[in-house]
Amino acid sequence: MRVINLKDKQLASEHVATEIVKLIISKPNTVLGLATGGTMTELYQYLVELINANNLDLNDVVTFNLDEYVGLSPEDKQSYHEYMQQRLFKYNDSWNDNNIHIPSGVGPDLEVEAYNYEQKIEQCGPIDLQLLGIGENGHIGFNEPGTSFNSRTRVVNLTPSTIHANSVNFDNVDDVPVQAVSMGLSSIMGAKHIVLLAFGAKKIDAVKRLLQGDVATDLPASILHQHPNVDIYVDDVIFNKLKEDNEV
Ligand code: PGA
Repeated sequence: MRVINLKDKQLASEHVATEIVKLIISKPNTVLGLATGGTMTELYQYLVELINANNLDLNDVVTFNLDEYVGLSPEDKQSYHEYMQQRLFKYNDSWNDNNIHIPSGVGPDLEVEAYNYEQKIEQCGPIDLQLLGIGENGHIGFNEPGTSFNSRTRVVNLTPSTIHANSVNFDNVDDVPVQAVSMGLSSIMGAKHIVLLAFGAKKIDAVKRLLQGDVATDLPASILHQHPNVDIYVDDVIFNKLKEDNEV
C-alpha cells in the first residue's frame, strides 16, 4: 500500500485522470471501476478535458460503478446514474452505452440484478483500475463497518453515519435512501490496481485507522492491506496530520 501526498485535491485529481488516460491509450478495452461522491468531482472534470484533448475513442472502454441508491431511478437528480451522466458520460459521444454498467436501484428483484451485475464483472473483468473514496466510517463503496470480506454485489443498509454524511446532496436528511446496491469487498479486491483518494479533515481519522494496519471488518477499507497494488492519494491536510502523529 503506497501513500502519496499530492498536496491538494486538484493536483491529485489531475494526476489520477492522467493515469486513467494513459491506461485507455495503452489498452483501449480498459475496464474501469468508477466511484462517485464529492471526492471524485474534479477527477472527472480533468478526465473529460484529457479525453477530449486526446480525441480518445472510448467505444471499447468498459466501466463498472461501485454503487447506486435503492429507490432512485436513473433519471433522479440524486442518483449515481445521473451523477455519472452529468460529470463524465455526457461529454463524449464515443462512450458505448453497452459497456457502461451502474447497479440498478429500482426493479422488482434487486438481489437478482445485483447477482447479474457481479456475473457481468466476472465476464468482462478483471477491472484494470478501481477508483475508491473512503467514508468517514471507513467504508469503501457502500460496504459499511461489519461487512464480510467475502461480500459481493448486493443490497445493503446504510448506517446513520453514511446517511448523515451524504445528506449534503439532498434537501433533507429524510430524503437520503436508507439502502443501496453496492459492489462487495470481494468484488473490489478483484481489481488489478486500486486507487483510493481521500481529501480534507473529515477523512483524517479513517485514513489514520487504515494506515495503522489492523485488518478487521469494523474498518472495511482495511481489507486493502491484503491487495498487492493499492495507491492512496491524500492531500496536505491529511498527510501533515499523519506525519504529526508518526503514522507516515
Ligand atoms: P465522498 O464519499 O467522496 O462524498 O466523501 C466517499 C465515500 O463515502 O466513499
